[in-house]
Amino acid sequence: MKRLEGKTALVTGAGRGIGAAIAKKLAADGALVYVNYAASKEAANAVAKEIEDNGGKALLCQCNISDYDSTKEMIENIISKEGAIDILVNNAGITRDTLLSRMSEEDFDVVIAANLKGVFNCTKHAAKVMAKQNGGRIISIASVAGLIGNIGQVNYSASKAGVMGMTRTLAAELGRYGITANAIAPGFTKTDMTDVVSDKIKEKMIASTPLRTMGEPADIANAVSFFADDRSRFITGQVLSVDGGLSIV
Ligand code: NAI
Repeated sequence: MKRLEGKTALVTGAGRGIGAAIAKKLAADGALVYVNYAASKEAANAVAKEIEDNGGKALLCQCNISDYDSTKEMIENIISKEGAIDILVNNAGITRDTLLSRMSEEDFDVVIAANLKGVFNCTKHAAKVMAKQNGGRIISIASVAGLIGNIGQVNYSASKAGVMGMTRTLAAELGRYGITANAIAPGFTKTDMTDVVSDKIKEKMIASTPLRTMGEPADIANAVSFFADDRSRFITGQVLSVDGGLSIV
């Protein structure tokens, strides 16, 4: 029997990049995976199709996770169909990088709304059903930028440090219901998000990473897989860096 057989997982922002890799990994582990997307249905559909083609189970769910009411509706829909949500992966995130001197109020607000409030929105509604079912896994994708400073990311690093703080408090509040809450702090990982970064900055990031390479989305998905099942049953409130060592130098 596969590790996550019979479990229902929701992965936010799963149409591409790290989220798509997480959705595929959890489906390969046996979970029924809800592939959340905000706007690109086609991309999310391709992820779900790949999962189904490989013998897994996947369904799509559209929702902008920055919006409290839409998030509530999405999670209630999943619960009405499946009766449970066992695993929530808060992966969706955005960047609006620029120096503080050039950062607009909007640049700050939209990043906080997606990366921090989005985690609150999904967790608030999913944790309610997890508490009733007496168990659940909340896994949030933070960032190395929430652990160390990164020029041009005042908004982003604040949002990701916030996710880590929220994770520790969630763990303290929800442990009595058998729910674990952990975060993963990826380093520089190959996705569309980092594709826009100049070659010069990429080379600099790689040179300052002890393992001298960028991460692959699958590296993050493997850590999520560990936090999603019983191998991690006694671990909660932790932040695992999956960053080639970037945060320790
Ligand atoms: P990506 O940009 O390739 O994918 C992010 C996905 O989230 C996209 O499909 C996007 O449509 C979705 N999304 C954004 N806002 C949303 C919203 N409001 N509602 C629903 N979906 C939304 O980015 P990537 O690289 O796959 O990042 C995934 C997560 O990992 C993000 O939280 C990011 O901050 C984090 N991360 C990425 C790193 C990297 O080097 N790629 C490093 C550290 C953290």
